[in-house]
Amino acid sequence: MPLVNMKDMLAHAYGHGYAVGAFDVVSLDFVEGVMTAAERSRAPVILSLAESRFEHYDFELLMSAVGAAARRSPVPVALHLDHGTNMESAVRAIRFGCNGVMVDTSHMTLGENLAATRAVVEMAHACGVPVEGELGYVPGVEGEDAERHPGPLAYTTVAEAKGFVERTGVDFLAVSIGTVHGRLKGKANLDFPRLRSINQALGIPLAIHGGTGLDDDQFRRLIAKGVAKINYYTALTDAAGAAICARVKSAPGAGYAALVRDVSAAISTEAERCMRVWGSAGRAAEVMSHCRPWGPVEHLILHNVVGISEKEAAVMIAEGQQVLGAIPGVREVVTGRAVKEGAQYRYCWLVRFAAPEVIDSYREHPAHVLFANQRFRPVAEGRISIDYALEGA
Ligand code: 13P
Repeated sequence: MPLVNMKDMLAHAYGHGYAVGAFDVVSLDFVEGVMTAAERSRAPVILSLAESRFEHYDFELLMSAVGAAARRSPVPVALHLDHGTNMESAVRAIRFGCNGVMVDTSHMTLGENLAATRAVVEMAHACGVPVEGELGYVPGVEGEDAERHPGPLAYTTVAEAKGFVERTGVDFLAVSIGTVHGRLKGKANLDFPRLRSINQALGIPLAIHGGTGLDDDQFRRLIAKGVAKINYYTALTDAAGAAICARVKSAPGAGYAALVRDVSAAISTEAERCMRVWGSAGRAAEVMSHCRPWGPVEHLILHNVVGISEKEAAVMIAEGQQVLGAIPGVREVVTGRAVKEGAQYRYCWLVRFAAPEVIDSYREHPAHVLFANQRFRPVAEGRISIDYALEGA
């Protein structure tokens, strides 16, 4: 079960002077390519899903695939929401299985960014999920020419970063020191003294967005100054595009499967190159032993009902599925009825929590308190409820 706590993973990278790649994946070819690279180079890895790409794929479906890829992998993996737009995005990402979230409100005023990020931190920490904030503005658009969407770059300042981290409680900070999302023309002009000062002031893992186009020396200098997470996408999509174009040339008129045949290998080659440059290659075993495993808790309830009919019980249960399923950190609410008449307990609920932290935050959540006190407890006779951490899940 090599899904691991992302905070532990990045603490290890930060403490040992290397960076974990956070690769944005947009299809199964990307998932397979990045995982093959991580497994071949024995690297911890972050599979990142950027909200700006959700128009190209079904977030929930791809999350099922990245979850499955992580669970069967021998290397430690974290699943991250990249550039989420708001609180709802973060809640949904945790529900689908992300164990790290970024809500990017860096385009707002400092005060708005601070308030929005702090609210996300409160919600996510109650689910055991670490949060990446962004301060300053990294312009450009992933997967496109950086110059086409320059926007005004806003550098992260040391003083603002210190206040931001203290007041929001973010676990990692994405900083703007000269990188740009997308394809670069020429060499990026990075402000290393600024990065060093931010790192000295904060002492938490820093993230760099816009990894594409930086050279090996720049990467090493970024990592030496506190960067423990590097976001990377455009170079992967370009490698994928080049593989398809080569197939179009060599096999005109070929169908979909033939055209995408080399995509995963091309992505894998580029991702593995990065893992070796960034120093995450060969770290999988250490990271695995250092990090807490990440896994769900099953909240099991068994009960009978008194004073209401089966029909009324069904209405109450359907209401519970909806209300409880919306609580942050709840991944799923499944209910059932005993197959045999006369079973000791007629009804069961399986409420899947994202992590053990949710046991407390769920119990205290106003929606749960209201439903439990007004709808459930008055009629749920002889109920038992136990939280299980699943083994071998
Ligand atoms: P690039 O596409 O420039 O590699 O940036 C990726 C990124 O920062 C995703 O958040």
